[in-house]
Amino acid sequence: MKDLIIYYSWTGHTRAVASVIAAAVNGELMEIQETTARKKGVGFVIAAFQALCGVKSRIKEMEFTPDRYNRIFLGTPIWAGKATPAMNSFLTRYNLVNKKVYLFFTLQDSKPPLKTIKTLSKKVKEQGGQVYNLISIKTKMGEALNRKKVETKIKEWLAKIL
Ligand SMILES: Cc1cc2nc3c(=O)[nH]c(=O)nc-3n(C[C@H](O)[C@H](O)[C@H](O)COP(=O)(O)O)c2cc1C
Repeated sequence: MKDLIIYYSWTGHTRAVASVIAAAVNGELMEIQETTARKKGVGFVIAAFQALCGVKSRIKEMEFTPDRYNRIFLGTPIWAGKATPAMNSFLTRYNLVNKKVYLFFTLQDSKPPLKTIKTLSKKVKEQGGQVYNLISIKTKMGEALNRKKVETKIKEWLAKIL
């Protein structure tokens, strides 16, 4: 059985990390997409406010059949210290029954707040899954990721946990 890498990304960093993980585990990629495109500028403030309030945004339907997969890697950027509205929606709409879940975050800081990790892990559990491990990748807004560095970090992480 293959692994599945599911992610939400607005500005591309989490997408890049997802593709590194997919290449490393020979997994499949699945993107969570919102139905309405976000606008830059004032959209940043709206996005942060929504995340802070735990809003669930409208996301496109996905053909997600968890039984087809072994492990699930679940990735989101951190907005205002929290998970994104799209990830909040995913975690209420789709079940993860008996799935081993590995979280990955991208953010400007080194790590998301512990409370956010706990909240996400609880949501995964409510959907029937179990968080086994997680990783955070530090990014800079407006700057492309150093893919080589990310590859090294992801490889080291996977070697430790799988
Ligand atoms: C609306 C918004 C709020 C953000 N809030 C935080 C934050 O609270 N802490 C942090 O470290 N980074 C924060 N960031 C930076 C993003 O987490 C970071 O750029 C991330 O890698 C973006 O992922 P993406 O390119 O996949 O969308 C924020 C970015 C946006 C757009």
